[in-house]
Amino acid sequence: MFRILANTPVTSNLHRLDISAPRIASHRKPGQFVIVHAEEDAERIPLTIADADQRQGSITLFVQAVGYSTRRLVAMPAGASLRDVAGPLGRPTHIERWGRVTCAGGGVGTAVLYPVAKALAAAGNRVTTLIGGRTASLIIMAEEFSAFCEKVLITTEDGSLGQEGLVTTVLDAQLRAEESRPQAVFAAGPVPMMRAVAEMTRPWKVHTIVSLNPIMIDGTGMCGGCRVMVNGEMKFACVDGPEFDGHMVDFDLLADRLTTYRDQECRMLKKLEE
Ligand code: FES
Repeated sequence: MFRILANTPVTSNLHRLDISAPRIASHRKPGQFVIVHAEEDAERIPLTIADADQRQGSITLFVQAVGYSTRRLVAMPAGASLRDVAGPLGRPTHIERWGRVTCAGGGVGTAVLYPVAKALAAAGNRVTTLIGGRTASLIIMAEEFSAFCEKVLITTEDGSLGQEGLVTTVLDAQLRAEESRPQAVFAAGPVPMMRAVAEMTRPWKVHTIVSLNPIMIDGTGMCGGCRVMVNGEMKFACVDGPEFDGHMVDFDLLADRLTTYRDQECRMLKKLEE
């Protein structure tokens, strides 16, 4: 049984779930995900493993309640059990000593980057993390990142916390100055943000990795919803990723993928409100 040890709201629609899963906690690597099947009739949801506590035998997931199944999942209280949690799945992040590395996170993508940034810092990199959000209440995990990052810089679109603007505003400035230009950039967040990061680093030839978790649907390699062209080859984010070279990803095709299930999701959300 996969018991929910704690269910902590971080923002109005983002929850941190600590789940008992000893085997996954001891085997997981940065960048990997699990598939959560909360109840008999629930959809399977792929979620990045943000952290793990091997002593407690638990994993940490951040769940953004945006659709029918994720809303039901965040409504489950501590003490409840999930029907199944499968993983760890996906290819782990390739970690090496790049030197100066920037991690750019937007929204819940910040949680996706947490284990990656931690592993990069442990490998001897000087890590700067950029955390962006629309407003102050949507900025998450700044304190957690501060424990191992050289710098944590916050941007908000309304200027309510940190620098006003987008993470790309800060990244642009970093890239232009030789003394702050990173040797590698990792980005996780909304697809338009990852696309903007990749386009920004391209002229500087800075190695750029994007995490395509947002396009996964069932995470099993069966639904085809996460198909993406990478360097002219068809890849599945859940099997071949979720991380890819941002300069090789066909972001036009990716943007189309994201609208594939929009109608079904709207129907299910109406059902939840009835
Ligand atoms: Fe369904 Fe990858 S998420 S095939």
